[in-house]
Amino acid sequence: MTIRHTRLTLAALAGLALLGACGSGDAPAAPAAETATVLDNGMTVSEVVDARQTHLKAVGKAFKTISDNLKASEPDMAAIQAAAASVPTETADMGDWFPEGSGPASGVKTDALPAIWENKADFDSKIADFHAASATLASTAEAGDIAAISEAFKATGATCKSCHETYRADD
Ligand code: HEC
Repeated sequence: MTIRHTRLTLAALAGLALLGACGSGDAPAAPAAETATVLDNGMTVSEVVDARQTHLKAVGKAFKTISDNLKASEPDMAAIQAAAASVPTETADMGDWFPEGSGPASGVKTDALPAIWENKADFDSKIADFHAASATLASTAEAGDIAAISEAFKATGATCKSCHETYRADD
């Protein structure tokens, strides 16, 4: 349901995303109509893509906080715990972030690859792996042992990488 809560803010951002999308394409006139397409979930493709990218940026930021602290000579345990706790919350409804029609063929700028919808069961299993690993990371962080947190962090990072390798376009 998080995706719904962010809808209003993201509607405001959608205009910016459109401007960005027009900058690089050969067919500047095409995206406007296509991005207004409403999907089965009641959101436009732009809203869906903006929402998931916003969530994933927050996850990336939380991961950087944990990584920076694990490298620090005096890690800020409270910061690690807060960041680790934010990931399962931020991604609770990740299974709903990639509805049919929200890939690059929509004309909306997205790094989500068509392979997601060609192998949805495998993609969903990668979400499940990630959810399990990030839940372990959050509970391990709560317990406060740096070495154990470091292991759980690596294990979670591997699930990000495993999905990105197959389903996210290279930057
Ligand atoms: C099940 C697949 C999957 C998992 C697991 C996953 N990601 Fe991603 N990630 C994606 C896809 C697909 C995109 C591209 C989304 C788009 O552009 O529409 C993405 C994009 C991102 C982005 C760029 C967001 C933006 O647009 O600026 C960041 C940052 C990111 N992921 C971080 C992470 C981190 C960190 C983890 C693990 C803690 C993770 N992701 C786990 C699939 C995944």
